[in-house]
Amino acid sequence: MSDAADLRVSGLTKQFAGAAGTIDVLTGVDLAMRRGDAAVITGPSGSGKSTLLYIIGVLDEPTAGEVNVAGTIPFRLGPIDQAKFRNESVGFVFQDHHLLPQCTVLENVLIPTLAGTKRTSDVESRARKLLERVGLQNRLTHRPAQLSGGERQRVGLCRALINEPLLLLADEPTGNLDQKTAESVGTLLLEIAAEQQAMLICVTHSLDLAARFPRRYELTAGKLILVDS
Ligand SMILES: Nc1ncnc2c1ncn2[C@@H]1O[C@H](COP(=O)(O)OP(=O)(O)OP(=O)(O)O)[C@@H](O)[C@H]1O
Ligand SMILES: [Mg+2]
Repeated sequence: MSDAADLRVSGLTKQFAGAAGTIDVLTGVDLAMRRGDAAVITGPSGSGKSTLLYIIGVLDEPTAGEVNVAGTIPFRLGPIDQAKFRNESVGFVFQDHHLLPQCTVLENVLIPTLAGTKRTSDVESRARKLLERVGLQNRLTHRPAQLSGGERQRVGLCRALINEPLLLLADEPTGNLDQKTAESVGTLLLEIAAEQQAMLICVTHSLDLAARFPRRYELTAGKLILVDS
């Protein structure tokens, strides 16, 4: 594994305590990525894909092993620094967009910036540019309920990108969309991640979406296996 990696995951394990004993979900995951890389993870339901993505995104803790993001080991940070790291370095796109229903499109995209110190006018202009990039410049004051599913996912993508994260993590981002809409959201995800030199990790059951990624892994028996292209 190269020392120059911007993301290095090594020997990651995760166990959950269940009524019937311990469940070993991740048994030794290794992954190295550089800025601008895009990887997809497929695997059966229950194989631990979301668990892995949440640990890489510091939303859950590993049982053992290490995550290193550009020299920072987030699990060694105290709670405040860890939250700051997550806010600044990680963007998440979920299957269910998780937008706030009472906020407009523009406000939803700006939410991750509320904790930051950048000037309001700068972040607002960046939000407008991102929304224009995904073709939503005429939907700025719409509320999520007034948008189509694909439009909501595009807002979720802009919100994930607003703080220019190193890591863009997507868990079934096209799972609720029809094929054509899924294709366009997939294209935006890959294109914008590359433009911003983020490291994109996408989890999906869609073989169509997976086929578009330069690097493909399958999560099997708790380990990431590189799928031959
Ligand atoms: N908080 C938890 N407590 C106990 N067990 C959990 C917890 N979260 C996940 N699990 C278990 O870990 C396993 C992996 O779950 P995970 O959600 O990561 O699977 P997945 O690969 O994302 O599946 P899907 O494709 O259905 O989304 C499952 O067996 C699940 O029951
Ligand atoms: Mg999942």
